[in-house]
Amino acid sequence: MIIVLTGNPGVGKHTVAEKITKKLKMELLDINEIVKNSELFEKNDDAIDVDVEELEKIIHNKINNPMLIVGHLAPYVIPEEKVDKTIVLRKNPYDLYDIYKKRQYTRKKSRQNIECEVLGITAYDSLRKFGKKVFQIDTTRRDVDKVTELVLDIMKGSSHNDEVDWLDMIWREKDLEKIFSD
Ligand SMILES: Nc1ncnc2c1ncn2[C@@H]1O[C@H](COP(=O)(O)OP(=O)(O)OP(=O)(O)O)[C@@H](O)[C@H]1O
Ligand SMILES: [Mg+2]
Repeated sequence: MIIVLTGNPGVGKHTVAEKITKKLKMELLDINEIVKNSELFEKNDDAIDVDVEELEKIIHNKINNPMLIVGHLAPYVIPEEKVDKTIVLRKNPYDLYDIYKKRQYTRKKSRQNIECEVLGITAYDSLRKFGKKVFQIDTTRRDVDKVTELVLDIMKGSSHNDEVDWLDMIWREKDLEKIFSD
């Protein structure tokens, strides 16, 4: 079984992936590690531009079955036909803000990533790429063990799928301007 674990930076992908791979003795393929060890990226300001076509070629040769593939770039670099299930971890943008603060992201990088979560870009792009193979888990107020359990349930056939709408929440909290204006 080939499982993809994706979602915005800081949602908890690697923390959960480590638990799953230990428990199931599954091989882990970390997209970030491949990018870091290659010459496929260019540091731009505080973003990193990646040559996704080249990355897809490299990854193609590294995919084994069974495997857990982890990374926020997954919807752009993993061939759809290789994948059994894609799990997108979501996190309340207010909690992400705290995680980015701890990570000492710049204001710009933090904002870009929060916007991305609010608009659900990784989830949307995953749905476009992997369609019915996509399952979402809201990690807000769920500890690592609970999220791990939900991932294992999905792998076993559960149809767990959290539909989140952060945009609506932020609109109701009257924080739209705070998040989307300069
Ligand atoms: N379910 C959870 N509940 C609370 N905190 C969590 C949970 N999962 C992870 N964390 C914490 O959130 C932070 C970010 O987690 P992690 O580094 O695994 O994210 P990531 O999605 O792999 O990020 P990146 O894409 O940047 O690699 C860590 O401090 C981790 O301990
Ligand atoms: Mg990580």
